[in-house]
Amino acid sequence: GFPKYVKIVEVGPRDGLQNEKAFVPTDVKIELINRLSEAGLPVVEVTSFVSSKWVPQMSDHTEVLQGIKMFSGVHYPVLTPNIQGFHSAIAAGAKEVSVFGAASETFSEKNINCSIEESMGRFEEVIRSAHSINVPVRGYVSCVIGCPYEGKIEAHKVAEVSKRLYSMGCYEISLGDTIGVGTPGSIRKMLEAVMKEIPVHALAVHCHDTYGQALANILTSMQMGISVVDCAVAGLGGCPYANGATGNVATEDVLYMLNGLDIHTGVDLYKVMEAGHFICSALNKKTNSKVSLAAFSL
Ligand code: HMG
Ligand code: MG
Repeated sequence: GFPKYVKIVEVGPRDGLQNEKAFVPTDVKIELINRLSEAGLPVVEVTSFVSSKWVPQMSDHTEVLQGIKMFSGVHYPVLTPNIQGFHSAIAAGAKEVSVFGAASETFSEKNINCSIEESMGRFEEVIRSAHSINVPVRGYVSCVIGCPYEGKIEAHKVAEVSKRLYSMGCYEISLGDTIGVGTPGSIRKMLEAVMKEIPVHALAVHCHDTYGQALANILTSMQMGISVVDCAVAGLGGCPYANGATGNVATEDVLYMLNGLDIHTGVDLYKVMEAGHFICSALNKKTNSKVSLAAFSL
C-alpha cells in the first residue's frame, strides 16, 4: 500500500532557478521561498553554495539565505559540493546541507569537476564537519537511470554510490533521474537494487519530467514504500551540466495526485499554485504544471 504521509521536498528555488539564464532578482527568490513556506511545505531547498563562475544564478546564496523568513518546523537545506561551500553556508546561517554526487563518472566530472572517488573524499570531509556541529546532511545521487554523457546507468552502480553516502552519515539519499528518462520499469529495478542497501525510509526520489514519466515513476516509488518526494513549483528546473534536462516534476501536480490518494502532506495546493503563478510571472514564462494550467483557466 501507499504511505499515509509523504514528505514533499520543494527544490524549486534551487533546482528550479539554477538553469535560468537571466539573473532572477534576489528579492524575487526570497518572496518565492517565503510563499512556499507559507504553503506548508516541510522542506524548501534554498540555494547552492557553489562556484559563481559555474552557476552564476546561485551567486546571491548568502543574501537569499539571510533574507528569507525561516518558519519554525520548516527545513531550509542548501547545496554544498565541498568544504569551501560548507563553510560559506554555515557562515551564512545554514542549518542543513546537501552533498551531491553521481552514479555516472562523466557526469561527476562535468558537474563538480572531479571523479566519483574524489567526490566521496570531499563529501566525507563535509559530513564530518557538519556532524561535529549537529548539522544534518542529505545526499543526492544523480543519473540514477541514465546519464546525458554515458547513456544507461546500471542499478548496482547507483546502489554502490548511495550506500557509500548513507554509510558516511547522510540521513537521506535522494535518487535523481536527472534527465527524466526513467519509466516505472527502470525505476522499480533501480529501487530494488538500492533498497537492498538502504532502508526505504531514508530514500527519496527526485524525478525530472523530461519524458513525461515523473508522476508514474513517483507512484511506482510510493508503491514500493518511498515516502519522500522532491519536486519543484511550476515544474521549473534543469541542470546546467545536463543538456536537455527539463524541469522537475511540478509540486502542484504531485500534490493533486497525493490529495486524490488521500495521502497527507500538510501542504496547501492552492497556495503552491499561487507561488507558481508568482514565479512564472516574474520569469515571464508559462507554468509546466498541468494542474495549475487547468485550474487557472477554469
Ligand atoms: P573547481 O573549479 O574544480 O574548484 O570547481 P577548485 O576547488 O579547483 O577551485 C577553483 C575556484 O573555485 C577557486 O576560486 C575556488 O575558490 C572556487 P579562484 O581561486 O579560481 O577564484 N570554489 C568555490 N567558490 C564558491 N563556492 C564553492 C567553491 N569551491 C571552489 N563551494 C566546484 C568545483 C564543485 C566548486 C564546481 O564544479 C561547481 O561549483 N559545481 C557546481 C555544479 C552545480 O551546482 N550543479 C547543479 C547542481 S547538481 C543538480 O542539479 C542535480 C540534482 O538536482 C539532482 C539531479 O537532478 O540529479 C541535485
Ligand atoms: Mg535535479
